[in-house]
Amino acid sequence: MTGATSGPMTLDELEDAAARPDPPAYPAISRAERAHGRRLAAIHDMYRAELDGVRDLLVRIRAGTAAPGVLAPAVTGTRLARNMAMFGTACGRDCALLQNHHDIEEQWMFPALSSAGGAALAPVIARLMAEHRLIHALIGDLAAAAGALVAAPDAGAFARCAEGFAALDRAIRSHFGYEERVLEEPLGALRVPI
Ligand SMILES: [Fe+2]
Ligand SMILES: [Fe+2]
Repeated sequence: MTGATSGPMTLDELEDAAARPDPPAYPAISRAERAHGRRLAAIHDMYRAELDGVRDLLVRIRAGTAAPGVLAPAVTGTRLARNMAMFGTACGRDCALLQNHHDIEEQWMFPALSSAGGAALAPVIARLMAEHRLIHALIGDLAAAAGALVAAPDAGAFARCAEGFAALDRAIRSHFGYEERVLEEPLGALRVPI
C-alpha cells in the first residue's frame, strides 16, 4: 500500500465525485452479465435498509429527549436510558455487518476484479480501497462509541454515538452508490463472483 504513513481521506474527499475514476467500457456485456453485476446493488440495499432502521431509532430517541427536563439530572434505569443502550447495540451490530461486507470485498471481490480487469480497472479498485480505509476508521470509531453507550447510557455517550453513526451512514451511502455504479459492468463482464 502506498501512503502508509498518511491517514485515511476525509469524508468530504470520499464524497468528491470528480476524484472517483470511471471503469473502462465493456461493450460486449450481455444482459445476463449485467444482471449479475447488479447483484452488488441488491446486497447494498439490505445494508441500506438496516441503516434506515437504526436512523429511525435515532430520530425517535431524539424526539424523546426533546421533552423538557428529560435528560436531567440522570437517565440511568429509565426507559430513555434503555432506548439509548438499544441504539448503541444496533450501531454495534451495523459495525460488525459492514465490516464483514468490506472484508469479503477486500479478500475476494477486489482481488478477482484486479486480476481479471487489468490496468484499465486498477484506478477504480485503488479508489474503492482508499474509501474502505476511511470507512474502516469510521467503523472503529462508532464501535467504540457504541460500546461506551451500552456500558453507560447517558446524554454525552449518546451524542458521541449518534455523531459516529451519522458519519458512517453518510460515508457508506456515498461509497455504496459509487461502488455499485462503477462495478456493475466489470463484475458482470469479467464474471466475478459476488
Ligand atoms: Fe465497498
Ligand atoms: Fe460494497
